[in-house]
Amino acid sequence: MKDLSVLIVGGGSGLGALLAQMAVDAGASAIGIIDINSDAAEAALKPAHDKGLPTASAVADIQNGPECHAAFKTVAAQLGRVDTLINCAAIYPRKPIMEILDADWDASNGINIKGTYHMMVAAADHMRGQEPKAHVRGRIVNLTSVDAFKAHPQNAHYAATKAAVVSLTRSFAHHLAGDGILVNSVAPAGMATERARQLGFLEELAKASPLNRGAQPTEIAEWVLMTGGPKNTYMTGENVIVSGGYIYA
Ligand SMILES: NC(=O)c1ccc[n+]([C@@H]2O[C@H](COP(=O)([O-])OP(=O)(O)OC[C@H]3O[C@@H](n4cnc5c(N)ncnc54)[C@H](O)[C@@H]3O)[C@@H](O)[C@H]2O)c1
Repeated sequence: MKDLSVLIVGGGSGLGALLAQMAVDAGASAIGIIDINSDAAEAALKPAHDKGLPTASAVADIQNGPECHAAFKTVAAQLGRVDTLINCAAIYPRKPIMEILDADWDASNGINIKGTYHMMVAAADHMRGQEPKAHVRGRIVNLTSVDAFKAHPQNAHYAATKAAVVSLTRSFAHHLAGDGILVNSVAPAGMATERARQLGFLEELAKASPLNRGAQPTEIAEWVLMTGGPKNTYMTGENVIVSGGYIYA
């Protein structure tokens, strides 16, 4: 991430907080975090603070478009430039497929799909106005899930939202290619973030994995940084599946 200014939405915990740390370790020049939890966002900026890097954070409930745009503008104004946007915020509460209520749909659609959409629009508006670095004006990485491509009756509404984000990623990639903005997604299988551990489904996912274990979050984060980092100059509209073989199981 050398010399890139990186903004992580949902960077307050789990994979997002890890990415904030790993981006600093990989040479990022500035870190921004947008999250609904302001204390968590501040805490996740510690590695950047410790290294003396410019940082910025803003609170938003990303279901709300104006909140997304205001938060993005706050962070972008403080950092000056946003080279890489990583959309990590999502919810994945489980509900049996026959019992999903309107409120469940609205929450999952609102955060996982709409929030990702609004953040991509805000980032595109900003990135279009900045000078390219080595042909690339900016990069967007959305976190999807292998569940977008598999039958997942334990959490069908979540899987559907992630399939929608795969689709949005392609549409934005096509729309923004002429501007030199690369838009991709990374689709993990189950990984041992704190939240995933709390929800208690990791053992079930590990058993379904040909590798017989869930991923460590770092094993996913490496691919997110590769996709959103300077080595990626030509990949756009792709969804990188990192599932330990579960995609074919
Ligand atoms: N953990 C897994 O097993 C797994 C597997 C496949 C895909 N993923 C995806 O990876 C990403 C990260 O997962 P995680 O386990 O680190 O999640 P997490 O729950 O640990 O972190 C999500 C972050 O998003 C923030 N957030 C939630 N709702 C928000 C809202 N309305 N507005 C703003 N911020 C909000 C939370 O405060 C939190 O900091 C998600 O997109 C998830 O769907 C996770």
